[in-house]
Amino acid sequence: MVLVEASALTGKRIVLGVTGGIAAYKAAALLRRIVGVGAHVDVVMTAAATRFVTPLTFQTLSGNAVHTDLWDPASGSALAHIGLSRAADAILVAPASADFLARVAGGRADDLLSALVLARECPLLVAPAMNRRMWEHPATRRNVETLAQDGVPCLGPAAGEQACGESGAGRMLEPEAILACLEAFFTPKTLAGRRLLMTAGPTFEAIDPVRGITNLSSGRMGYAIAQAAAQAGAEVTLVSGPVALPAPPEVTWIPVVSALEMHAAVMERAAAAEIFIGVAAVADYRVENMAEKKLKKDMDGPPRIRLIPNPDILADVAACKNPPFCVGFAAECENLEAYAQKKRRKKNIPLIVGNLIQEGFGGERNRIVLFDDQGAHPLPEASKTHLARMLVAHIAQCLNKTRTGSEQSLNHTSTHNPEPPTHAEDHNRHQDSR
Ligand code: C5P
Repeated sequence: MVLVEASALTGKRIVLGVTGGIAAYKAAALLRRIVGVGAHVDVVMTAAATRFVTPLTFQTLSGNAVHTDLWDPASGSALAHIGLSRAADAILVAPASADFLARVAGGRADDLLSALVLARECPLLVAPAMNRRMWEHPATRRNVETLAQDGVPCLGPAAGEQACGESGAGRMLEPEAILACLEAFFTPKTLAGRRLLMTAGPTFEAIDPVRGITNLSSGRMGYAIAQAAAQAGAEVTLVSGPVALPAPPEVTWIPVVSALEMHAAVMERAAAAEIFIGVAAVADYRVENMAEKKLKKDMDGPPRIRLIPNPDILADVAACKNPPFCVGFAAECENLEAYAQKKRRKKNIPLIVGNLIQEGFGGERNRIVLFDDQGAHPLPEASKTHLARMLVAHIAQCLNKTRTGSEQSLNHTSTHNPEPPTHAEDHNRHQDSR
């Protein structure tokens, strides 16, 4: 059985338009990812796109027939395919060639994809891919500007080495980044404009130039929270210890190594934050007598390492004059509720997320329980991405309650406040009002 994770795209109907460019091969990986989060995808290819990748590839990956021809007699009517765009929640064109952008900007409808786009009643997003000179050309600049005025988000392009051998702006965003943009587009903006500061990953406390003390932490939970919060509209600053993960898109990423560096980076920014989430596995101690040179084995006996306590970053943020809404994490081997609640009270924070170390440490999935002054609120076992979304939704709910003053309770099971609109809903309203 394929496990489908809840995503802002789960259950959505997406038309994926593929136009003629070498980046069309990346559209296959993108399709896999969109299908992987539980969306239904209908692929529409331009004639030029079929020169780069066969429709069979997209048919196999989407599980649906691929549409390539406005005049396909098998569809029964020349207008039948237009129905595809009527049923869609969004049309994503990736890669979008310079020619395609020009045709859409000009309102042309001379092939199936451009006809679908012109006839649509849903949002359109484009992920351009082209040679850097084509991207920089004044005609393309004008077309992109026209599309922006028409409310069409442009995802990327990225800069870097191009398939033609040149280097510059025009590369299609990577499939993972396009998926994140599409998910963000459909995510309710529950944290719109909120400044969120957070820590993630382990810290590393040097013993000598090549050795140190650290905690086991993949950073996955923290990075998933950063991404979910950014998708919910927050301005996220992520202070991260050393991990093997790429910085999430749309997040200010501040890499640090030691607990002291993490503390300094956080305290510098704490006053400006409305939310602080301490996900990092901060080392409790650092080495007081760090050696300047690599310790040698042939010393007189084992090295004597003196440890001194590190500052508690979360407790220090919570002790600020006007502290942000502080959320902590408690990873325990046993007595989860008692230990987590004790930590929450000691650090004087409203919310702590507890998990048992034997359930999900380092993996993709986890089981977490939220603890507040009302008690324990277990969340269902899920992927870290999904848990991150649930946690972000809960924090948004807590903040909205604090803001309206209508309720002091942090009980996440109570009725949700009306959610702010997603970009998609905004767009639809915009379309309706025209
Ligand atoms: O005290 P303990 O390490 O168990 O608490 C865990 C929580 O406190 C986590 O949210 C962690 O990020 C934060 N913490 C911190 N600075 C420390 C130790 C823990 O911010 N020095």
